[in-house]
Amino acid sequence: MMKTNSSIFHFAIIFMLIFEIRIQLSNESEFLVNRSKAGLFHVPKDLSLKTTILDISQNYISELQTSDILSLSKLRILIVSHNRIQFLDISVFKFNQELEYLDLSHNELGKISCHPTVNLKHLDLSFNAFDDLPICKEFGNMSQLEFLGLSATHLQKSSVLPIASLHIRKVLLVLGDTYGEKEDPKSLQNLNTESLHIVFPRTKEFSFTLDVSVSTAISLELSNIKCILDDNGCSYFQNVLSKLQKNSRLSNLTLNNIETTWSFFITILQMVWHTNIEYFSISNIKLQGYLNLRYFDYSDTSLKALSIHHVVSDVFSLSQSYIYKIISNMNIQNVTVSGTHMVHMVCPSQLSPFLYLDFSNNLLTDLVFKNCGTLAKLETLNLQMNQLKNLASIVNMTKEMKSLQQLDISQNSLKYDENEGNCAWTRSLLSLNMSSNILTDSVFRCLPPKVKVLDLHNNRIRNIPKPIMKLEALQELNVASNSLAHLPDCGTFSSLSILIIDSNSISDPSADFFQSCQKIRSIRAGNNPFQCTCELREFVQSLGQVSSEVIEGWPDSYQCDSPENYKGTPLKDFHVSQLSCNTTLLLVTIGVTVLGLTVIVTALCIYFDLPWYLRMMYQWTQTRRRARNAPLEELQRTLQFHAFISYSGHDSAWVKSELLPNLEKEDIRICLHERNFVPGKSIVENIINCIEKSYKSIFVLSPNFIQSEWCHYELYFAHHNLFHEAFDNLILILLEPIPQYSIPSSYHKLKNLMAQRTYLEWPKEKSKHGLFWANLRASINIKLMEQAKKIDHT
Ligand SMILES: *[C@@H]1O[C@H](CO)[C@@H](O)[C@H](O)[C@H]1NC(C)=O
Ligand SMILES: *[C@@H]1O[C@H](CO)[C@@H](O)[C@H](O)[C@H]1NC(C)=O
Repeated sequence: MMKTNSSIFHFAIIFMLIFEIRIQLSNESEFLVNRSKAGLFHVPKDLSLKTTILDISQNYISELQTSDILSLSKLRILIVSHNRIQFLDISVFKFNQELEYLDLSHNELGKISCHPTVNLKHLDLSFNAFDDLPICKEFGNMSQLEFLGLSATHLQKSSVLPIASLHIRKVLLVLGDTYGEKEDPKSLQNLNTESLHIVFPRTKEFSFTLDVSVSTAISLELSNIKCILDDNGCSYFQNVLSKLQKNSRLSNLTLNNIETTWSFFITILQMVWHTNIEYFSISNIKLQGYLNLRYFDYSDTSLKALSIHHVVSDVFSLSQSYIYKIISNMNIQNVTVSGTHMVHMVCPSQLSPFLYLDFSNNLLTDLVFKNCGTLAKLETLNLQMNQLKNLASIVNMTKEMKSLQQLDISQNSLKYDENEGNCAWTRSLLSLNMSSNILTDSVFRCLPPKVKVLDLHNNRIRNIPKPIMKLEALQELNVASNSLAHLPDCGTFSSLSILIIDSNSISDPSADFFQSCQKIRSIRAGNNPFQCTCELREFVQSLGQVSSEVIEGWPDSYQCDSPENYKGTPLKDFHVSQLSCNTTLLLVTIGVTVLGLTVIVTALCIYFDLPWYLRMMYQWTQTRRRARNAPLEELQRTLQFHAFISYSGHDSAWVKSELLPNLEKEDIRICLHERNFVPGKSIVENIINCIEKSYKSIFVLSPNFIQSEWCHYELYFAHHNLFHEAFDNLILILLEPIPQYSIPSSYHKLKNLMAQRTYLEWPKEKSKHGLFWANLRASINIKLMEQAKKIDHT
């Protein structure tokens, strides 16, 4: 016992040690303290020394001192943006040797004092109140610097010199509201960065001469271009764009937050068309004014992809079809026009090079690209979030798109009417997204034959009917958030490997599913109203047979919904026994149990002589019943003895050593004919005398007794006809078994008594003797003893 205890104790200690180490390990890698938006006026003093990431952004902190962060020797990332810091001495970080990310943007910094720091990879000083660029000589040593955020209201060529030799990945330059006076157009010439983002003053009309064509830049982003008053068509900005041509490396141009006229917007497009730029993206555009129709020159372009996001226009009287034409005839591969109020798109007038079109989040209708044969190269078309209504029109639209592989028409109001003509999807389609529409079961009668990925989630499907043709290529089917009552049968989708069918109305999924869908690698079927009964048990078992990675969301999103007492129980904890679910098994079990009991009882009978006990008990109860019913007068007869004992001389040894001592020790008075013999009378007379003076007569039966003694009694019973009267007063003890044949045929009374089996059997086993004597004494009836005593005294 001691040994087991101590080994458990050791085990526990080892376990705790491992646990501790694990915690330390995970602490070692990262320890994040987030006190953002905590109303702080100072850097908190209670920081853990283990802190590696500290976020104290969006507070009211106005000062950063060495003592604030001195002890945080592990600090790697410090975010202090959106505070009120006005002055910074970079030497406060001299003890934070690990520091590599420092965000001080959106403060009120006007000045910094410098100190050599070499480890910084990310330093953000943008959106502050600096007049001149906050670039120290020491920055030149920050060879690891990847990002530098700056702000200034005044640029000087010389300010940039210290970092001219660094290869910075991205520079963000925010120009303050008062920027613009005494500009030096060449001030950014020495900047050495792959990517440059310049934020112009938000409120000012664009009238800057800054040359943004930094020779090292591959990517350029310009924010806040406001150009509405300039009648010369935004000459300043045109000037800026025209200089981009000098940098042949520049391939990405992004314009953000543009407020201008329709005319100038087209001008910008046209200008960029003729530069080296390959990827052009414009977002958040506010347009006004009229549009003069003019020729758009598509020739001589490097452009591969154009994307236009979020256009707001406060003019409705312009010729929209002109703009649609400009877009549809673009000779580039990728075009995105998203989040505009575009209501239509026309067919390109000749074979279009479009591979990828994203027209999501507009107001396009079923008329889009109707009967359009010039999009034969198009591979991907996204019409998500538009006003599409009739699936048949869209199917028809794809008919001529011979290369179309991916179509997204999710988040529309699509319905499918089976009666509406033929269903001729382009055969090239591999991936079709029709989620979040109002499609019903009928959609399965109209699916692209080679589709591999089909998204139909969030529609109104109640049942998956057999599609018109087998969808043998279908690998991924999403029918989540519909009203399906059953899992599909993979007969028609023989390649199905991913099934998403959560949030439907499946209550008793079929256990045959995995049999039918052999190729399933992943199934997500949670959040269904599972009915936890015997049928479900088989399904849960079949889940157990596949690997757990296959069942997504298991076990958390799989719960019983009914019956009421199981509601909310996770399926993994739902157990009903095999027995209560299987009737045959139940019957067999009952049969086996009964058989088992029978065998046990039989064994008990044989082994422990149960019948003997049962007979003894029976006689006991009989005796008691008789005793209760015994008439009182009988007891008042003059009786001298409780019992008379008759036995064969051969059995006298047993009578004297067993019977007499056992009865007499209970004060039972016995009449023995040898002891109480009256001389001068015959044996029979003596016996009769004894019988008549005794309440009970005990006969010790054995073969000897029958041969030598019984003859007297046959005679006696016959003569006195006392058969009935005496019957109750007879007690037969069967000392040895008496075979029926050994009883002479003239002994009618004995045969009768034996046949009734009303005798007490003398058991050979000593353990049973107690019960035997108790039974015998009860037969003699204790009540009588008191009576007899009274009689004695009279
Ligand atoms: C077009 O867009 C697709 C999808 O965003 C992209 O995978 C592909 O590389 C783009 N092609 C070009 C030339 O930009
Ligand atoms: C289908 O489009 C929805 C958005 O409408 C998107 O969430 C889902 O991931 C898309 N499905 C596939 C398979 O790309």
